[in-house]
Amino acid sequence: MIDNQRLPQHIAIIMDGNGRWAQARGMVRSKGHQAGVEAVDRITSECSRMGIRFLTLYTFSTENWNRPPEEVNAIMQLLITSLVEETFMKNNVRMRVIGDRERLAPEVRKCIEDCEDHTSANTGLTLVIALSYSSRWEITDAMKRIAQKVKDGTLEPEDINEQTVAENLESHFMPDPELLIRTGGEQRISNYLLWQCAYSELYFTDIFWPDFDEKALYNAIEDYQHRERRFGKTSAQVKADTERK
Ligand code: FPP
Repeated sequence: MIDNQRLPQHIAIIMDGNGRWAQARGMVRSKGHQAGVEAVDRITSECSRMGIRFLTLYTFSTENWNRPPEEVNAIMQLLITSLVEETFMKNNVRMRVIGDRERLAPEVRKCIEDCEDHTSANTGLTLVIALSYSSRWEITDAMKRIAQKVKDGTLEPEDINEQTVAENLESHFMPDPELLIRTGGEQRISNYLLWQCAYSELYFTDIFWPDFDEKALYNAIEDYQHRERRFGKTSAQVKADTERK
C-alpha cells in the first residue's frame, strides 16, 4: 500500500528498453519508441492524478545523437507529434525542457518552446523532458555561467558554494528527485542528473519502458517508502528526528 502522505515530490525516470521491446516482437526499434510514448502518457497522467509535483523523463541524451540518423529522426518526429498542448492544458501540466537546445532542429525547438510558453501558468505536475541532455553538459554549462559572473566582477570566487552551482544549473527550477527509476534492466545512471541525484533513492526494474504501467509505478513508490533516508546521519538519529516531528 502506498502512503499518500509520504509521496516523493519529484520522480526522475530513465526510460530504457524501447528498442529491445520492439526487437523482441520482430518490429523495428522506432515502434518501441512509439509504444514508449504511450507509457509516457500513462505515467504522466498517473503522477498528475497522485499529486506528484515533478516528473523528469530522460528522453534523449547527448550521447543518443550518435545513434543511426533514421532513429534520431524518428524520435524527434515522435516528440513533435506527442507534445500535445491540449493534453497538458486539460491536465493542468506545465511542460519544461532541459538540455542543449542548440543541437535541436528549428522545428523541434519551436515545438518545445511553444509548449513551454503555453503551459507555463499551469499549476499541476511539472513534466520535465530531458532532451539532448547530459549531466556533464549541464554542469559544464553551469561552470561557464559562474566563470562569466566572476569575470564580470559580480561574483567572488570565495562566495561560490553548493547553492551557487545548483542555481546555475539549467534545472535550477526543480527540487532534487527523491526517487530515480530506471527501466530496462541496466543498473547505471548514464550521465543523468548526477548533481541532483546525490541523495536520491535508486530503483531498477527489468520491465521495458513500453510495458511500464501504473502498477509498476506503485511498486517503485512503495519500495521507496520502505527506504530509510539517512542523508549521512545514523539510523538512530533519523528515528529521533522522525519522532520529534
Ligand atoms: C531508451 O530506449 C529510449 C530512448 C532513447 C528514447 C525515449 C523516447 C521516448 C519514449 C519518446 C518520448 C516522448 C515524449 C513525449 C517524452 P532504448 O532505445 O535505448 O532501448 P534499448 O536499450 O532496448 O535499445
